Amino acid sequence: MTAKLLQTLPADLDRQRLPRHVAVIMDGNGRWAKRQGLPRVIGHRQGVDALKDLLRCCKDWGIESLTAYAFSTENWGRPAEEVDFLMVLFERMLRQELEQMHLEGVKIRFVGDLDPLPKSLQAEMHRSMVETADNRAIQFTVAINYGGRHEIVKVSRQLADMVRHNQLNPEEITEKLFADHLYTAGVRDPDLLIRTSGEMRLSNFLLWQIAYTEIYFTDILWPEFNRVEFHRALMAYQERDRRFGKI
Ligand code: FPP
Repeated sequence: MTAKLLQTLPADLDRQRLPRHVAVIMDGNGRWAKRQGLPRVIGHRQGVDALKDLLRCCKDWGIESLTAYAFSTENWGRPAEEVDFLMVLFERMLRQELEQMHLEGVKIRFVGDLDPLPKSLQAEMHRSMVETADNRAIQFTVAINYGGRHEIVKVSRQLADMVRHNQLNPEEITEKLFADHLYTAGVRDPDLLIRTSGEMRLSNFLLWQIAYTEIYFTDILWPEFNRVEFHRALMAYQERDRRFGKI
């Protein structure tokens, strides 16, 4: 089955049992480039194309939300040239793609500690969130300078501060209230998390949100993750029996 044949939802998938929210850890860009004898950064550039097509595919197939892990709090530890390249790439992608995404009804949201990012990138991110705020075709969440533990600590501090100022009783702290203070407030938890490149770790991604998420690992490197591979992941998802702790 070629990617061309997959413009609409493949017939062997049950539309009623599709994940409503898919999250992806896009791993293997560097290895993909190395295998082609190319610099690592070319892998990231290819990775953007893979992400763009997955976003469109989710929309075409009726999946309402896609979240992508673009840059973790740990990624600052990479060589400065690679970090700089990624920052420029994010900004360029936003500048080039915003208009089209807006036309297609994509609602964009960035989650993570955005303050340390380059100011020009912050401005583009802000602009894209404001411009697309009323779109409804698909929710596209991009995690940048994101760390799950950092997010949980941040919310804990916020709630502790509210308690200190007598705005909140400790008994009022529920899972719902906690979730309402996460970066992802208002976006449903992922039903399916996909990680490419054969690594089987969560790498500090959406730690709170994935409590009941189905996880799918594939050896495919991110730049080669296409509709055929996504179809495979969804078939595997539909074979799972989601019980949410019940029997
Ligand atoms: C992991 O591959 C990939 C990243 C750290 C960057 C992912 C970013 C993109 C694909 C660009 C997305 C763009 C936007 C605007 C959201 P790796 O470098 O860890 O690969 P390796 O494990 O083979 O070294």
